[in-house]
Amino acid sequence: MFSYERLSSLPVILAKSGITHLLITGDLTTTSSPAEFERSLAFVQDVEKQGISVFCIPGNHDQYTRSAYRDRLFYDYFPSQWDKKSPYSLKEQGVTSCRLSADWHLVGLDTALATSWFFSTGLFSEAVEKNLSQLLSSFSSHDQIILMNHFPFFQHESPRKRLVRGEALRKLLEKFPQVKIYCHGHTHRQCLADLQSSHLPIVFDSGSTVLRKGGSWHQMDILPHQVITNVYSWKESQWEPSRQETYGLV
Ligand SMILES: [Fe+2]
Repeated sequence: MFSYERLSSLPVILAKSGITHLLITGDLTTTSSPAEFERSLAFVQDVEKQGISVFCIPGNHDQYTRSAYRDRLFYDYFPSQWDKKSPYSLKEQGVTSCRLSADWHLVGLDTALATSWFFSTGLFSEAVEKNLSQLLSSFSSHDQIILMNHFPFFQHESPRKRLVRGEALRKLLEKFPQVKIYCHGHTHRQCLADLQSSHLPIVFDSGSTVLRKGGSWHQMDILPHQVITNVYSWKESQWEPSRQETYGLV
């Protein structure tokens, strides 16, 4: 199902493309084992060696077992607090943030849970909702925000796979127009959707990079008033741009 060897060429490709930040929206592992976390960390470090800043949030597979979830093993390998001056950490508050540039901020969410083998649900808990609302309220109306969450907020996944209380997250996003971009994973379906006319962000589902059939990732060039997106697909043993979309920022 997965082809991990495709990752080996990515650090150099990203550097040659002038990428400055890499956002990984979870499920770095399959069973949240220490060996898988070690391999994930090695990949992240290879990217960082190219001078690229990497930000990771956990997916359901990264907190798959009760012990991994209880111990929050993910945070033994990846940072929980992206800005040491901020009081918010993924491990404690389920939310964190950092400044990316003069205008842009990055916010990460942890909505992953330990589940049985037949479920892959997440939970946008009332506590995380309160923390996210407080954090988003701390930004000015001129700030622009990229929000990362493993799960889509729409309830179109089967009940076994969806984000519980995703509707509450959608309603919260409607209140904060500074959130311009919502990046998620989980579905393995590459998808772009500009929902700004519905008072929601532009949604980026980059798909699964290592998925043998249909692997993909997104490159975003963020300009003052628009986002240019290239979809990269795996074709004949290499990564190639397969589609470009340009979105105006409202
Ligand atoms: Fe997932």
